Amino acid sequence: MSRRSFLLGTSAALAGAAAVPGVVHASSSRTARLRPGGSSWLADAILYELYPQSFADTDGDGIGDLAGVLERLDYLDWLGVDTVWMNPIFPSPLTDAGYDISDYTGVHPRYGTADDVVAVVEAARRRGIRILFDLVAGHSSDQHPWFLRSLEDETDHRYIWASPEQLPGDGSLPEEFVASPGPRPGAFYMNYYETQPAINYGYARSNPDEPWRQPVDAEGPRRNREAMREIMDHWLSMGISGFRCDMAATLVKDDPGWVETGKLWGEFRSWLETHHPGAVMVSEWGDPATSVPAGFHGDFYLPVNGPGDGAPWRSLWRDDPYFSASGTGTASTFVRAWSEATDTIGGAGVTMMPIANHDSATRLNDGVRAAEEFPAAWTFLLTWPFVPTLYYGEEIGMRAVPGLPDVEGSQGRQNNRTPMQWDDGPNAGFSDAPADKLYLPIDPDPARPTVAAQIGDPDSLLHLVRRLIRLRKHHPELGVGSDVRVLTDGYPLTYVRGDRFLVTVNPSRDAVTVDVPDERIEHAHRVEGRGVRIGGRGLAVDGFGYAILDLGR
Ligand code: GLC
Repeated sequence: MSRRSFLLGTSAALAGAAAVPGVVHASSSRTARLRPGGSSWLADAILYELYPQSFADTDGDGIGDLAGVLERLDYLDWLGVDTVWMNPIFPSPLTDAGYDISDYTGVHPRYGTADDVVAVVEAARRRGIRILFDLVAGHSSDQHPWFLRSLEDETDHRYIWASPEQLPGDGSLPEEFVASPGPRPGAFYMNYYETQPAINYGYARSNPDEPWRQPVDAEGPRRNREAMREIMDHWLSMGISGFRCDMAATLVKDDPGWVETGKLWGEFRSWLETHHPGAVMVSEWGDPATSVPAGFHGDFYLPVNGPGDGAPWRSLWRDDPYFSASGTGTASTFVRAWSEATDTIGGAGVTMMPIANHDSATRLNDGVRAAEEFPAAWTFLLTWPFVPTLYYGEEIGMRAVPGLPDVEGSQGRQNNRTPMQWDDGPNAGFSDAPADKLYLPIDPDPARPTVAAQIGDPDSLLHLVRRLIRLRKHHPELGVGSDVRVLTDGYPLTYVRGDRFLVTVNPSRDAVTVDVPDERIEHAHRVEGRGVRIGGRGLAVDGFGYAILDLGR
C-alpha cells in the first residue's frame, strides 16, 4: 500500500467509529490535514504549574517562596519546561489559598517582594522560561479595600449588592447571596466562598424579580474592567508573559451562551494585542470551543465544564478512566471532544491538558495506579497536539496523600498540594523548618519519590518525562502544529503524528495487538518505549506498554 493510499484507505481499526472532525482517520476520506493551532508561542509551550507555597522554601518558615523558585529554575530548565504558571502570590487573608486577593498588584510577604518577582522573571527569561500569573478577575477577598469601601457606600457598585428593599420580604436570601457583614444594609453576591465577593461585571439580561441586576456597561462594571486592565498592565510591565484566568466563564452573570462574558474577554484580548503583544491569556474554563473564540489563546480541559461537564478530562484520568489498568475505559470520548473543539477553534488558539492541577485533589499517582502505569500516560500527554501541562511533582510520580488536614480553605484539595520532594534530606529538601511548621506535611511514605533519586536513575519516570519533552521540542511533528491520525482509540490508543511518528500506549494491564496499515511500520525505528514489538504489519503491546516509533518521512 502506498503512503497515499494509507492516508485515504480503509482501516478495520476504526470500524464502528464515526469520522471525527479534526482528526484525520485512516478510515475517513478527508484529505485535509488539520493543523491545530494558535500562532502564538503558546502553541509550542510545555507548561508547568507550580504551587508556590509547596515548591521550595528558602527562608525556613515552612512555606515556599519566590527565592525558592529562583533556586530551582535550573531544575525546570533541565527538565525542559519553558512556561511556568504560578498560583497566586498576592497579599491575601488566605481563606482560599490566595485566590482571595486583597491587593492585586502586591506580593504576599511570605513569598517575597516585587524585586523577587523581577529576579525570578529575569532569571527565567535567561533560561528561555516564561512566567504566567493567575488573574483572579471574578472576585476579590472580602478584605480588599474595594470591598471594604463598598461596605461603607451604598452608591458603590464594584460588587453585586442587593438592597433590603430588593430582597425577599421573608428574610431569605437568593442563592449565592450573603448578608452584609458591614454597615451597608442588604446582601452581596459571592463567587466561591463567602469571603470572595463577586466583582460586578453586570448581568447579560435583566429580570424584574432581581432588580439589583446591572447591565454590563453600567458604571461599576466599566470601572472593574478598567481595573483589571490596570492589573494586567502592572504585571506584564514587570516582565511576566501572561495570565491563567481564574473562573473565566463566570464573570458576567446569567449569561446564556457566555455571549457577554466572551465579549468582555475579547475586549481584554484586543487590549492585550495593542499594549502587550506576545502576552497570552489562558482560561480556567474547560471548554476550548467556547473560550478560544471568545479571545483566549488557550484553555485547559478540566474535571468540570464544557460539553459533558468535564467528560473529556474525566474520561482519561478519573471515573473509570482510560488511563487505568482495568482496561475498561475509552479514549474515544476525549478524541471526539478534542477533535470537535479543534475544528471549531481552528488556528485561533490551543487546547491544554493537565493530568492534575491544584484543584483536582488527585494525581496520576492516586494510590490506586501503580508506578508502571505512569509512562503510557506521560507518552500520551507529551505527544498529543494540545499544550501539555505538568503539575509540579507529577514528573516524579508524587502521590496524592490521603488524610491531610484542611489548609487555607483547601477543602479536600490538600491531597495534591503537599511539598515538592526534592531529596532525602529533612522535609524532603523542601524546607529547613520544623516538620510541624510546613504548609502541609511531606508525604510520609518512606518510599516516596524524590527529584534527587530520579535524576540519578536514567530509568526513572523523571528521565522519561525529560526525554519525552526533548523529543517533542526537537520534532515539530509531535507538537501542536502537526496533524494527528488516530488508528485505534481503544487499548492501545494508537496514532500517527505528522505522518511520521506512530505513538501507541496501552494503559491496561493486559497485552494487546494492533494492526498498522502502513508498510513503513516494518522498518520503523523506536525512539522511545517499552513493551512494544513490531511484527509484520502490526504491533504487540504488553500491558502498560508504550512506544513512539519513527516511520520515516
Ligand atoms: C479557581 C481556582 C481555585 C479557587 C477558585 C476560587 O477554581 O483554581 O483554586 O478555589 O477558583 O477562586
